[in-house]
Amino acid sequence: MPPEPRQTVVVDGLALATEIRQRLADAVARQVAAGCRPPCLAVVLVGNDPASASYIKGKQRACGRVGMDSVEHRLPDSASETEVIEVVDRLNRDAGVDGILVQLPLPKGVRPTAVAEAVDPTKDVDGLHPMNAGYLLLGQPGLVPCTPLGIMKILEHHAIPLEGAHAVVIGRSAIVGKPIALLLQRANATVTMCHSRTRDLAGVCREADILVAAVGVPRLVKADWIQPGAAVIDVGVSEVNGALVGDVDTESAVGIASIVTPHRRGVGPMTITMLLQNTLDAYRRRGAGGRSGALTSDDDASARS
Ligand code: GUN
Repeated sequence: MPPEPRQTVVVDGLALATEIRQRLADAVARQVAAGCRPPCLAVVLVGNDPASASYIKGKQRACGRVGMDSVEHRLPDSASETEVIEVVDRLNRDAGVDGILVQLPLPKGVRPTAVAEAVDPTKDVDGLHPMNAGYLLLGQPGLVPCTPLGIMKILEHHAIPLEGAHAVVIGRSAIVGKPIALLLQRANATVTMCHSRTRDLAGVCREADILVAAVGVPRLVKADWIQPGAAVIDVGVSEVNGALVGDVDTESAVGIASIVTPHRRGVGPMTITMLLQNTLDAYRRRGAGGRSGALTSDDDASARS
């Protein structure tokens, strides 16, 4: 017998992001009112990929809206790894810069791992430096990649029980799959990580109370992969015939899942919001801003709630 259809909440990631950004804007305004400079994010774009250019514009616009500064550094497609690292080094030494984000993907010949290692770990708002990845593994404080942080906020906002839940993560990237698995495990979920070699992927997914799809395979997750009542998080974005689609066939999840994130206005706005949060955290942890004593983390409780 097919399961009873259920009420599915299609997550409004933009509404949640707007709510959190308001709290971040208030926190920044308090710093400025106390005589400190606002936090500053530096974004680095190598090459001229239109999608990447549009993403970094969105990130800078988001900074401006919460009262943060941003600076942009562009390098040509022909830039060498050494040239990219030189720019990163300059930003590391710039006391007016709190966060550094090098937009991915990078052109051939520029290794993302070498660039991630070059970023000062205290300014690593992408959470990709091996030191921050290690802190996450060890459960110590550090900067955590933005998309996994955004996913945790969504689960928390919708009161999805994590303790003892079976979470299945499809994809094992350093920026989403691995860190979200660690965060879910830290929240006492039992985590299964799946990837391209997983046997009976559909069967494993059907056991999930929480299903995170982050592989970039269009509409991989279909109705019969979803356990009734599961929370389904779609991180994938792929282009199919000029249209953007996610890793989840959202329409087919409606009526089965408890919540599902749409591929637009789902996880995306939360990723940018967590970038702002990480920039504020980096600013505070570094004691930046220009007036010691004014920089406390007393706003964190409100910004993080
Ligand atoms: N390209 C796509 N997503 C991301 C991200 O989260 N960080 C960086 N640096 N580049 C990206």
